[in-house]
Amino acid sequence: MFQNTKPTQTKHWEKLQEHKTNFEDFSLKNLFNENPDREKQFTLRLENLSFNFSKNRITETTLHLFEGLTKEMHLEEAKQALFNGEKINTTENRAVLHTALRDFSNRRIKVDGVAIYPLINEARNKLKDFTKQIISGKWKGFSGKPIDTIVNIGIGGSDLGPKMVVEALDYYTNHLNSYFISNIDGDATKRVLNKLNPETTLFIVVSKTFTTVETLTNASTCKKWLLEKCPKDAVQKHFVAVSTNTKAVVDFGIESASIFPMWDWVGGRYSMWSSVGLSIALSIGYEAFESFLQGANTADQHFKHTPFRKNIPAIMGLLSVWNTNFLNTRTEAILPYSEALRELVAYLQQLFMESNGKSVDRDGDPVNYATGNVIFGSTGTNAQHSFMQLIHQGTDEIPVDFIGFDSPLYGDSKHHDILMANFYAQSQALLEGKTKEEVHLSMKFEGDQKKINQLLPFKVFTGNKVSNSFIFDKLTPYTLGMLIALYEHKVFVQGIIWNINSFDQFGVELGKELAKRF
Ligand code: F6P
Repeated sequence: MFQNTKPTQTKHWEKLQEHKTNFEDFSLKNLFNENPDREKQFTLRLENLSFNFSKNRITETTLHLFEGLTKEMHLEEAKQALFNGEKINTTENRAVLHTALRDFSNRRIKVDGVAIYPLINEARNKLKDFTKQIISGKWKGFSGKPIDTIVNIGIGGSDLGPKMVVEALDYYTNHLNSYFISNIDGDATKRVLNKLNPETTLFIVVSKTFTTVETLTNASTCKKWLLEKCPKDAVQKHFVAVSTNTKAVVDFGIESASIFPMWDWVGGRYSMWSSVGLSIALSIGYEAFESFLQGANTADQHFKHTPFRKNIPAIMGLLSVWNTNFLNTRTEAILPYSEALRELVAYLQQLFMESNGKSVDRDGDPVNYATGNVIFGSTGTNAQHSFMQLIHQGTDEIPVDFIGFDSPLYGDSKHHDILMANFYAQSQALLEGKTKEEVHLSMKFEGDQKKINQLLPFKVFTGNKVSNSFIFDKLTPYTLGMLIALYEHKVFVQGIIWNINSFDQFGVELGKELAKRF
């Protein structure tokens, strides 16, 4: 197991503290003017992805210091421990093996002496077989009609990932309609039920523990609704489950043959690559689901084998630590320029904030530095007509991730050109800002000098703001898998540098206990 180290006691943390003073009067714009190759120098490629991090307060020396910090914090050893299935979730004594779910090399990894590849393969085959039966119409509802609607009942990691991906990959979906029920709000459940035909609906109850109040209450309500309209044995044809808790599922009334497995070595928010992704596989077909896994595996292999200077998630993680702990930013905005990715931010909020919202380190000692950031965002260009004002002219600096695609899905290049023009314009505006002189020049013909002087301060943008740009050729199951896995590894890297356990979530427990009391 890799060593626990207090980051603030490392040499490179101290060196970065010194180094940051170079950025006090620092103009990103000047750096671009002085070095026309800056964008090229700080852009990395991975297959059809280009990751441009040139608009950060960094130089080559900064990256060198980052690398030194990763060495002192044992990032390499931590990566090996992650991929080899060591129990790096120490507080729960669990391995963290979501990467194994998208690995097709059949590597011999054991957890508690049990080889996991046969289990993963068996689960994939079961998923494949079931999705084929549903999509082809071979699986019939109680009255002999094929299934045309699926409803995922789950919450947190058992909802956000599948919902986000099914929405994102709508272009690739088949004839099945999908719905997601997560909130305990009965009105929301009813709203979905009102749209369903009991004869042709399949409910998928997804709960790793099968003890989550929201999910079990919603599942019971849906079962009651079904049984009001159908014979008792209809449950077998209209309910399946994804869980580690076979007994509780069977007690609920779902046949053991209709249980898709999950394992303790996959955390809820990292689980959509497992059978938790059943609604994804049903919506886009098993082959496309495998392509989604392959995309993630490409990011895994890149993360595992690429040296620091060219390692995208390692750099993403270190940039975030740099901004947070040295340049004092506390929030990060994520702006996908794709309406299909409208659920991405909600998904990433759980990934980042449930993972890294910790204030004790891996030794249980309180940390004396900032950890997990507040993540927010929404799709561009909508965000531009909403909260972007604060990013451009507010008092807080907020690093932004722009995510875009070279080609549209349906081929409408007019819309896409305008969309991407905005993508480029926003990151450029954040970088360049608008000086007094520029504002003055642009207002020259707008009235008398007095009025211009009055308005001038309001129209100045300081610029010099940090952003990253991710551009893929096109939104596909493969590129989406890659993008998500890169973010997962960013979270991991941050957790290693912050010396915290990114894989437990005790913080959500107290509220659950109190809700029972209330
Ligand atoms: O309350 C948080 C949480 O434990 C998440 O981590 C998890 O994704 C979610 O609840 C759902 O848990 P389960 O899949 O066991 O129902």
